[in-house]
Amino acid sequence: MLSWDEFDKEDTEAPAAKGAAQPQQPMGAELERLDSAGDAAAHQARAIAADDSAAVARAKAALNDLDIAEGLAELEGSAARVTVDSKRMINCRADLNQLVPFKYDWAWQKYLDGCANHWMPQEVNMTTDIALWKSADGLTDDERRIVLRNLGFFSTADSLVANNLALAVYRLITNPECRQYILRQAFEEAIHTHAYQYCIESLGMDEGEIFNMYHEIPSVAKKAAWGLKYTRAISDPEFKTGTPETDKELLRNLIAYYCVLEGIFFYCGFTQILSMGRRNKMTGVAEQFQYILRDESMHLNFGIDVINQIKIENPHLWDAEMKEEATQMILQGTQLEIEYARDTMPRGVLGMNAAMMEDYLKFIANRRLTQIGLKEEYPGTTNPFPWMSEIMDLKKEKNFFETRVIEYQTGGALSWD
Ligand SMILES: [Fe+2]
Ligand SMILES: [Fe+2]
Repeated sequence: MLSWDEFDKEDTEAPAAKGAAQPQQPMGAELERLDSAGDAAAHQARAIAADDSAAVARAKAALNDLDIAEGLAELEGSAARVTVDSKRMINCRADLNQLVPFKYDWAWQKYLDGCANHWMPQEVNMTTDIALWKSADGLTDDERRIVLRNLGFFSTADSLVANNLALAVYRLITNPECRQYILRQAFEEAIHTHAYQYCIESLGMDEGEIFNMYHEIPSVAKKAAWGLKYTRAISDPEFKTGTPETDKELLRNLIAYYCVLEGIFFYCGFTQILSMGRRNKMTGVAEQFQYILRDESMHLNFGIDVINQIKIENPHLWDAEMKEEATQMILQGTQLEIEYARDTMPRGVLGMNAAMMEDYLKFIANRRLTQIGLKEEYPGTTNPFPWMSEIMDLKKEKNFFETRVIEYQTGGALSWD
């Protein structure tokens, strides 16, 4: 590890010795003394010296003209100190560069949890997957179809999510702790796209075929087109929130991406691939999906919290019309995912079939509806895949890092028991 003791020993020792000799002063007086000393020193540094070149002299002169007040005014919101009460999820006028004091502790906690769960695709061993994928009788045609379709859908789906975050949502969510999580999420989406690419490359698949499924395979293309529809308006650089119509447009986008894309469209594929892993097939791909699913369940929970917070702060947006629209969006998403289940599973495979998946998706849809305060639309539906919830709750300290250490040494993989 880097040790600062080895750097500039003289520099670090001198102030420490001086500090020890001086009596303690009140914080305000001490800061004032340091400020005026620092100001004078900085001013001196900016004075044009005899040996300065013309270019250096011009640079120093330009900085003399820099107006600090003007710089702050250009930042979003006022330059005043931020209080918790001045923070809001959307349309906030407080300075967005001041992370603390936190208003939404849950957002900061999710940022910390996301960082604690960090992983990289190359850490997963793909050797047995490569052998199985290349052997003539390793997988059935139905199993191969599932792997291909899901890599096809996911290899572009996470890019859609990342683009929506970076090009639209980040700018419009006016809270620094939530933005901090959104930056973490955006990086995780990049890791997910990397993971799919890593699987596609390891297995020697036709990259053009896989990456173009979202144009060419109707059940994949429909899901992508549905998501894209909701990012168009708010990705326009001229788009601004601040009216009931535009605030609702942002809310629709958050429901589309968090509740439907990440909250429903990922679930058929995740269940199929993880079911494969539980049967000791394509365990490397399944392990990648397992880590992705854990990240995704946190993305989903973050999105639900953001949506609910916007509702609390802007109750006028959550009117009967918006509730009906949100319900319709979730039902449309569920229907598209049911169609995807039928397309990817024309027959029973891996201990499941399209009818069971339909039940599971209705169960998930009920959850998404109630999570944002809407009523269930598929009453009485039960979860045919309870093992999925256990996988989502995977704790790093129980499995992940222990496994990782073993992987570095022996190339082992997660146990699917
Ligand atoms: Fe993702
Ligand atoms: Fe995600």
